[in-house]
Amino acid sequence: SCFAARKADKVYCVEFNPDMVREATRFLAMNEGGEKVEVIHADAFEYLPPEPVDVVICEMIHVAMLREKQVEVIENFKQRYLRQFGGPLPVFLPEAVLMAVQPVQQEYDFEGFYAPIVQFQQPGVLHPGTLELGQPAVYSLIDFTQPNELTYRWEGKFAIERDGTLNALRFVTKNILAVVQERSSTIDWLNHYMTLPLAEPLAVRAGDVVQVSFAYRAGGSIQSLQAAMRAELAPVATAVFA
Ligand SMILES: C[S@@+](CC[C@H](N)C(=O)[O-])C[C@H]1O[C@@H](n2cnc3c(N)ncnc32)[C@H](O)[C@@H]1O
Repeated sequence: SCFAARKADKVYCVEFNPDMVREATRFLAMNEGGEKVEVIHADAFEYLPPEPVDVVICEMIHVAMLREKQVEVIENFKQRYLRQFGGPLPVFLPEAVLMAVQPVQQEYDFEGFYAPIVQFQQPGVLHPGTLELGQPAVYSLIDFTQPNELTYRWEGKFAIERDGTLNALRFVTKNILAVVQERSSTIDWLNHYMTLPLAEPLAVRAGDVVQVSFAYRAGGSIQSLQAAMRAELAPVATAVFA
């Protein structure tokens, strides 16, 4: 909010947690531009600013859009805003989100104790316990300028690139914070990778095709996605020679 206030005449900062409201108010008073920020203790599902705004910055983002209510809050906000002020809608930051899934072999040995658990991994660094078995596939593109579904249902195929055991799916979430038209580029933020173990590990060989499916709700629990994940070898297409 404070950085936004350096570019804006007025910022409405909406926060649900009273401790955060108190601390934000205290710290804003110590920072240049803080006087332009009005901190409001409210639920983002109910709050509307008292006037039309140019930009809405909302970061309630968990990998795969699970747990936090980013998509629901924004879709709900858009409807209430249009009823109150008509169009155009403000620009939403992040502007878009790309979500992908990748088949992996994940090490679950902890000093001799086997525990297939949810893991979060820093993106862009090598993880010795993870073997990427195929390329990631994009399963959703959220564009906040458009109406967005609250459920993700995906079924797709992966070409397996190396022998191994497919025992987990890695979820990758890339937030396009802003599209910079002048530079024809984007400002991106990658969430931590989230690796979820599959209930049934699958032995795979390079050249296999694996069929994967899952479904979950935006804001849903990690367990709800995990319970819906399926992976199986796709039937081999048999060529017939006459
Ligand atoms: C991931 S944090 C945002 C952190 C912020 N981007 C930063 O860098 O400091 C999400 C914030 O949204 C608040 N929040 C969650 N649900 C909310 C709701 N329904 N209404 C208002 N605030 C909410 C949380 O209390 C938390 O402070």
